[in-house]
Amino acid sequence: MPIQSSPHRYSAVAQGFHWIIAGLILTQFTLGWLADDLPLGMRKLALLARHKSFGMTVLMLAVLRLLWRLFNRPPELPSGMSKTETILARGTHAAFYVLLFAMPLTGWTMSSAKNYSVSWFGLFTWPNLIAPNEHAFDLLRSTHHLLSDALLAIAILHILAALKHHFWNKDDVLIRMLPFTKSEKRK
Ligand code: HEM
Ligand code: HEM
Repeated sequence: MPIQSSPHRYSAVAQGFHWIIAGLILTQFTLGWLADDLPLGMRKLALLARHKSFGMTVLMLAVLRLLWRLFNRPPELPSGMSKTETILARGTHAAFYVLLFAMPLTGWTMSSAKNYSVSWFGLFTWPNLIAPNEHAFDLLRSTHHLLSDALLAIAILHILAALKHHFWNKDDVLIRMLPFTKSEKRK
């Protein structure tokens, strides 16, 4: 499996980052929503502890992914795409990169503002980013919720676009992000 992306295909490293982080984002929504439905208690705190650990994992992976991306060009977009489609594709990808940092950072700062510790699977504790502050907590909590709505909307758009490329345009945009496939067969 190639380490570098080619002009026609994402590298194994880029694919690995993409699918591991996508899986973690799905986990984050599941844990966040399940916790949201529960009254304050041990079960809710346990779910949120997992949510924080996986969320901090997203932050660490996002740093590595961004560094990798800065030094490794992705494949070109298909030449048949309109200007609007190109702008939408680039815009959603850029928004994803911003949100991969903004989601964990607002979550971490929100927990600090409430003086709730952020542990990483019980192995170590992350330092508090700000001093306890109820007003900042409320603001960061609303921001975290708002950004999660934005992330959900962008993810739905992104998935619909990937499926449109595959089933409607019949190009190799989806295949070149899928491990264990070959891109040569399609446009
Ligand atoms: C990619 C990373 C993350 C995603 C996608 C994410 C997403 C979410 C979602 C969807 C919710 C439920 C919101 C709702 O009910 O509308 C939530 C709640 C929450 N998140 Fe995150 N989160 C992430 C990272 C983090 C991190 C790193 C922390 C803390 C270190 C954190 C702390 C919390 C807390 C404490 C809540 C509950 C807030 C409340 O009481 O309403 N999150 N998150
Ligand atoms: C919420 C989870 C997801 C996130 C955060 C995410 C994020 C991203 C990002 C940032 C890129 C651009 C990669 C780069 O050029 O550096 C990308 C590309 C891509 N994603 Fe996702 N993605 C998610 C889920 C999915 C899913 C479920 C699918 C499949 C249905 C998918 C299909 C693709 C494809 C096909 C590309 C390549 C687009 C191209 O060639 O220009 N993604 N994704």
